[in-house]
Amino acid sequence: MSAPRTHVVPTEALSQQAADWMANALQDTLATQPRASLALSGGSTPGPAYRALATRVLPWERVDIYFVDERFVPPDHAESNYRLVEDTLLRPLQLSPSQVFRMEGEREDRDAAARDYAAKLPPVLDVVLLGMGDDGHTASLFPGHPALEEHEQRVLAVVGPKPPPWRLTLTLPVLQSARHVLTLVSGAGKRDTVRRALEGDTRLPVARVTNTEWMLDPAASGR
Ligand code: 6PG
Repeated sequence: MSAPRTHVVPTEALSQQAADWMANALQDTLATQPRASLALSGGSTPGPAYRALATRVLPWERVDIYFVDERFVPPDHAESNYRLVEDTLLRPLQLSPSQVFRMEGEREDRDAAARDYAAKLPPVLDVVLLGMGDDGHTASLFPGHPALEEHEQRVLAVVGPKPPPWRLTLTLPVLQSARHVLTLVSGAGKRDTVRRALEGDTRLPVARVTNTEWMLDPAASGR
């Protein structure tokens, strides 16, 4: 297996370069398709990259926004990934609600929320942004969790070890079949986990997403 393509970028340029990567992947897609799908993660790292992406000139009316994972909280909650994306990308771009496919974290029937989201997903996602938490989770797929063995369902409601515990997540087959995938990680605290993932330690969910490129700051890369 060939080594994953890894971009090491100065910390101060990380958000702009991640935005450029996403914009280029969307442009590539839109050169051959009428519409492009972009699936986004939450967490603390990507917000500045979404703000930078919102300044890129693209035919945004042809881009559909999806979510990689969501917490079971209402969309205006501080922990909502939708809220992060709304504040940093959707509102600045004034995207139409018809282009935004939200995971419904406010639903009481969690399995129904997962099924309904699976029905909204396109067969293949064009552009996906992933991250990696301190505990090695990616999307809301946690190391050692049975959801890692899911091959049929495209979206699952899971209980993770990190609060808030109940989450909706895309499953590995969806991430593995996506056309352009970037995993964005920064900070020395994640250096060992990044190294293990890049060495192919499949206990880390992202190590199984072999189609991903990586974008790291020098601290996370250990260089
Ligand atoms: C989530 C995210 C998650 C994220 C990592 C990294 O909602 O938990 O979608 O998968 O990518 O937690 O988060 P940090 O950037 O905060 O480390």
